[in-house]
Amino acid sequence: MGSAFEPDRLPDEGPLDMSLLPQTAKVATDGSLSVGGVDLVELADTYGTPLFVYDEAHLSARCAEARSAWGDGVAYATKAFLCLAMARLAHQEGMSLDVSTGGELHAAMSAGVPAEGIVLHGNNKSDDELRAALEVGVGRIVVDSFDEIERLRILTSGPLAQGSAPGSSLASAPSRRQRVLVRVTPGVEAHTHEFVRTGQDDSKFGFGLASGAASEAIDRLRKVPGVELVGIHAHIGSQVFRVASFAEEVEVLAGFFTPLGLSELVIGGGLGVPYVAGEHAPSITQWAEAVHEACRKAGIPESTKVTAEPGRSIVATAGITLYRVGTVKDLPGLRTYVSVDGGMSDNPRPVLYGSGYETFLPRSTNAARPRVVRVVGKHCESGDVIVGDARVPADLVVGDILATPVTGAYGYSMASNYNKVPRPAVVFVADGAARVVIRRETHDDLIRLDS
Ligand code: LLP
Repeated sequence: MGSAFEPDRLPDEGPLDMSLLPQTAKVATDGSLSVGGVDLVELADTYGTPLFVYDEAHLSARCAEARSAWGDGVAYATKAFLCLAMARLAHQEGMSLDVSTGGELHAAMSAGVPAEGIVLHGNNKSDDELRAALEVGVGRIVVDSFDEIERLRILTSGPLAQGSAPGSSLASAPSRRQRVLVRVTPGVEAHTHEFVRTGQDDSKFGFGLASGAASEAIDRLRKVPGVELVGIHAHIGSQVFRVASFAEEVEVLAGFFTPLGLSELVIGGGLGVPYVAGEHAPSITQWAEAVHEACRKAGIPESTKVTAEPGRSIVATAGITLYRVGTVKDLPGLRTYVSVDGGMSDNPRPVLYGSGYETFLPRSTNAARPRVVRVVGKHCESGDVIVGDARVPADLVVGDILATPVTGAYGYSMASNYNKVPRPAVVFVADGAARVVIRRETHDDLIRLDS
């Protein structure tokens, strides 16, 4: 594997591989690209850059596919991309929502998603987060530590809740029992980047199977009167291309899960997506089929609700980022730097994980890309690279709109205000119209918290 910005292989000098674009992407005879019936260069002119553009039909189709492949209870992992419009869309398509903080819970609730359709995750849920989840009555809490079990015991028992949290409305403890799952670490190593691998024994998440911690957690939870243990949860990692890794996860979980007689098994998220030409990933449907088949083989009872919580595979390919080229700097004998008006603040993935992206000019989508340049952002550090060796058309000039496809997941959601750069706007496009779902931050927004 190459180092962060020196991939093994340069991308092809041919035009962009169209399979990396959202499903309604269409190239006009003059080479200009529209998504959802809206021309991308016009979008950039209207809403400014950088701009996140999402194909609403693509989002809906992936949610619908997940719902039909996994059935009731499949949850969209909101960490991949969350705003009110996205929460509503996933809910309308029949998905539950997986939230992992009080903030994500607040956004989901503010979007009008019923609490029953929300699953709360987190390896370090605070009292406040747990209290909020119990108060609104989320559908499931995925329990991650012994400390959390103790917190749940206190928070779900009326008098203790009163004692530990003066003034809390939990003083009147919820009469229903809170449904919970136990997160276990199956010891399966997904073939993915170290930072997004989560299923191995040495992990901050969940309870180890091998160490006996998972069994201990089950025993303790069964003694907490305010909760109802309904199932087991595991997640092996993210950007996983091999369904065999998930089948292995099921095999490992089966021996633990089946004797417990529980009704739900959640295998997590993690299905990978292609970011650059030449990568291939299974579809959501193939992923679900492989897991269901593995469950049958492993003797997991037919009646078990086996489900998942995809994030990236729902939103990644639906999104494209549009930047405007500000400077082109030729360093003879070295390389050419093409600077755009965003960078590591709207896409930290190249810096964090060495992730590769493609680039193209939406005014000439079909154009060959003979030039190799380094696409960099506007931040004050050399590491602010978006694409280390980007292929671009020969006639790229200052002022062009340059696009990076497959930026719908973990781009906006991990965006920052580094260098006091305002976060971009996000638009959804469909049926020839665009709507702003997150407005662009202003300079005043950047000082709104200061006193
Ligand atoms: N469920 C759990 C418990 C998770 O921790 C995650 C992701 C998911 C579901 C959704 O996984 P997905 O289907 O999106 O792979 N920032 C990294 C990815 C971190 C993923 C964290 N957990 C990246 O940009 O690649």
